[in-house]
Amino acid sequence: MDDIRGPVTNLPGIARERLGHTRLHNVDTAPRAVSAMMNPNASSIIDNHRVRGRTERIPVAGPWVTDLEVQYVAEAAANDWYDNAGQSVDRFETEFADYLGIDFAAAVPHCTSALHLAMLALDIGPGDEVIVPESTWVATAAPIDYVGATPVFADIDPTTWCLSPDSLEKCLSPRTKAIVTVDLYGGIPDMEAIAARAAGIPVIEDAAQAIGAFAQDRAAGTLGEIGTFSFHGTKTVTTGEGGMAVTSRSDLFERISRLRDHGRTPAGHRYFVTDELGFKYRMSSLQAAFGRAQLARIDELVGKKRQIFEWYEKRLGGVPGLRLNSRQDGVQNTFWMVTVVVDRSYGLSTRRLMELFDLQMVDTRPFLPPLSSLPAFSEYDTSTTAARHNRTAYDIASRAINLPSALRITEEQVDKVCDLLQIFLLSGKGPT
Ligand SMILES: Cc1ncc(COP(=O)(O)O)c(C=O)c1O
Repeated sequence: MDDIRGPVTNLPGIARERLGHTRLHNVDTAPRAVSAMMNPNASSIIDNHRVRGRTERIPVAGPWVTDLEVQYVAEAAANDWYDNAGQSVDRFETEFADYLGIDFAAAVPHCTSALHLAMLALDIGPGDEVIVPESTWVATAAPIDYVGATPVFADIDPTTWCLSPDSLEKCLSPRTKAIVTVDLYGGIPDMEAIAARAAGIPVIEDAAQAIGAFAQDRAAGTLGEIGTFSFHGTKTVTTGEGGMAVTSRSDLFERISRLRDHGRTPAGHRYFVTDELGFKYRMSSLQAAFGRAQLARIDELVGKKRQIFEWYEKRLGGVPGLRLNSRQDGVQNTFWMVTVVVDRSYGLSTRRLMELFDLQMVDTRPFLPPLSSLPAFSEYDTSTTAARHNRTAYDIASRAINLPSALRITEEQVDKVCDLLQIFLLSGKGPT
């Protein structure tokens, strides 16, 4: 067998044990790399487990939907009109705020709009700088640009992969108007150290990926002035598309509520009086009903995320030169995306790993590329400076991927992913 471009499915745990620490060298192309590193027995393992006929891809992300969501949406579709219009949204907001233990929650069409409203509520505008960690989805920083402010890109911490307090300190300037922290992949940055370095500067906590995470007894999303969440279809709690802005400050909540509804106040609502131009950033009843059902199942959803991580941890935790998401004292990581950082000595780049998995019908994602590397931000001088200094974000992004972490994934699929990863590692030298 000299080409294994077909799907390798169902590799048993013994493949890992038997092949685990064999080293193979001088392997060049991706398919050959895998086949060349196989001894004859290993090839027959692949042959024996090749699925005949159509093979399903293992998805990297995706929701867990039950009859409950369908039932809630059907009820809202039948009833949420006339006097009941908006009742699912009100309930979703109240239940969400209760879950987090915070005073106010405003449902919006997505986390991007929640972040946009957060910037506006904090009066951020032209001339202001907002510090944002390099490693995040572009949506964290795009709203800084929407309001005319300048993003300043800070490095990440090598353990949490979230905003580095040391780097943050170096980015502070008299123009710093706010800091956006990101709870990357369900982890939480060292918020105490961040607050100590940036006392008095408001923090927007982008908890898009972190519902269910806690720092001590405080929920992710409640650790700054304003917290934001995403309910995109890839997230732990989904409404298809959707988001939430939360805060314990009534003034910020009032501002967010007004701006998400074309600048209307409750007083002017009835007569269509608009005091200022705002946005149409409201969530629909049907989405909110879906979200209420997901929230009713939150422990099950977050529990499954943690279960998936434990499956990976059990299989990969002891493999030399691999690092998974961190477990820090006092933080309950929610492990939205199980992520593996591969020691440089294996010679496997992010891109190469993704290609190898793709050939085997396994979807992965790259560790988020540094924002300052994105052409979209090249017009900012801060981008050039950041690219010179933010070594950790650049280093990790070059050799890390998100492993399949969809809520419907099975332990057998995790087994397969782990076996494949270890086979790929065999083409590298590995840590000395
Ligand atoms: C860290 C982070 N911030 C913001 C967003 C934007 O969320 P949405 O797609 O709901 O606008 C995402 C979505 O993936 C995200 O991961």
